[in-house]
Amino acid sequence: MASSEHRAVFVSGASSGIGAAVAHHWLNRGYQVWGTARCRDRLTKFADQKNFHAVEFDLLDRSAALESYEEAEKSAGGFGVVVNNAGFGLFGVLTEIPARQWDEQLSAMLTNTFMLVQRQVELMVKRDRSATLVNVSSLAVDFPLPFMAGYNVAKAGLSALSESLLMELSKTPIRVIDFRPGDVRTKFNAAMQPSATVAPSAQPQKENMEAAWRTLEQNLDQGPSPESVAVDLWRAVKSGRRGTVTTGGWFQATLAPFLIRLFPQGLARSVRWRYFGIR
Ligand SMILES: NC(=O)c1ccc[n+]([C@@H]2O[C@H](COP(=O)([O-])OP(=O)(O)OC[C@H]3O[C@@H](n4cnc5c(N)ncnc54)[C@H](OP(=O)(O)O)[C@@H]3O)[C@@H](O)[C@H]2O)c1
Repeated sequence: MASSEHRAVFVSGASSGIGAAVAHHWLNRGYQVWGTARCRDRLTKFADQKNFHAVEFDLLDRSAALESYEEAEKSAGGFGVVVNNAGFGLFGVLTEIPARQWDEQLSAMLTNTFMLVQRQVELMVKRDRSATLVNVSSLAVDFPLPFMAGYNVAKAGLSALSESLLMELSKTPIRVIDFRPGDVRTKFNAAMQPSATVAPSAQPQKENMEAAWRTLEQNLDQGPSPESVAVDLWRAVKSGRRGTVTTGGWFQATLAPFLIRLFPQGLARSVRWRYFGIR
């Protein structure tokens, strides 16, 4: 087994926010980065980076995404670091958002990501050298977000996958990081604006939805920069961390996950509800 570092990094969702910051961070340190977006045009910000390789990749199309990954993996000669970061939110009442949209979210962020991870691990094991697999989950695993049922399910599932792999891969040179950001100042919310009109059947939830959306917007605006998240990820990978790594503001990423474990479930829930203005 070779132990020397392989300086090729794969980052899904490199066109904006956390993924773009992570890609820049590794590029600036001399690594080769294969970064994805659904459309190549979204990656022009890397046009002047000779070590950047644009990959077109849509998690909604499982076989095409697997094929793109395999091609990238082959041309890189394997990846030393893989960051599964791509993802999106959906905000609304469970019964108001069409089933097709929930289905798309769960396919992209849970089942298709699961199958992608399967292929990534298979290829890493074949190469038999040290590598780090990072799945970007969320603090939503501990603090489910209101009116984001699909997102909460997808991230809880992704963290469960990381936890499972930590056990399975313990005797291999593959390290797994379940990376959980709190609110980070990106365009994440812009992709999931709530509908301006609420159907009569959803009127009882309207007030809670409005309060929750205000909190989500405020938290994102006041969150740390994606660059600071990229620094935390860099440090975690370089120091050989495995397991859960939280990142974000001190209160959300450090204090809250610790405190919430000390509270009885009912109390923890009422604190979370209050935080989001849910009555
Ligand atoms: N921002 C936060 O507060 C926060 C907190 C916790 C966790 N996270 C997680 O961090 C990750 C990055 O989020 P962000 O805040 O950086 O959001 P962002 O700025 O909206 O970036 C999302 C990225 O995902 C890509 N993407 C979206 N849908 C995709 C699909 N169907 N297939 C492939 N790629 C797709 C986008 O690429 P296109 O150019 O193709 O649109 C974009 O590069 C997500 O997994 C998110 O859940 C974010």
